[in-house]
Amino acid sequence: MRVEKSIQVLRLGHRFVRDDRTLTHLCLVSRALGAETIYLEEADRELMEKIEEVNRSWGGEFAVIEEGSWEKVIRRAKDEERAVVHLTMYGLPLHHKVEEMKSHSKYLIVVGGPKVPGAVYRLADYNISVTNQPHSEIAALAILMHELQEGEELKREFGKSRLRIIPKEKGKQVELKS
Ligand SMILES: C[S@@+](CC[C@H](N)C(=O)[O-])C[C@H]1O[C@@H](n2cnc3c(N)ncnc32)[C@H](O)[C@@H]1O
Repeated sequence: MRVEKSIQVLRLGHRFVRDDRTLTHLCLVSRALGAETIYLEEADRELMEKIEEVNRSWGGEFAVIEEGSWEKVIRRAKDEERAVVHLTMYGLPLHHKVEEMKSHSKYLIVVGGPKVPGAVYRLADYNISVTNQPHSEIAALAILMHELQEGEELKREFGKSRLRIIPKEKGKQVELKS
């Protein structure tokens, strides 16, 4: 039987740059693709409420946790024997390391903002690039999560929810549960 992966995400550096849309999308992608938690250096009430409402409507218990010290999150992950995977365009290509990384069952995936402290590169177990071209932390995160879970995340059930989509070839159908 395939063991389900435990994935946490850490987003570095929001303090001086407000980019609410990116942050919201990082939370939504982490949740939809099966992470249990995202740690943010700064999370405002509005964002927390938005994600809580998504959980209520669509199921699951995805958590947004505000934690001012990224170092604490990484150290705790190491204590829990999570593989710490830092996404960076300067890292080793994902396709060179993915098989090795799949031997782990628990991960902390670290995504950067505009500037990433050098210590993150040293503390990470893996510094991984998704192509060596600059792009987006959201895209890099989605591709890494997909590779680590071998597509199993696409079949995930979110449990009790208020809304459920009945997939259609054409049109939209949403079941509203009382
Ligand atoms: C605005 S980019 C900054 C690019 C940064 N110079 C770097 O080290 O990748 C923000 C974040 O997107 C992610 N990212 C961007 N391009 C990437 C790539 N090709 N592979 C992996 N992650 C990438 C990294 O987590 C990065 O910290």
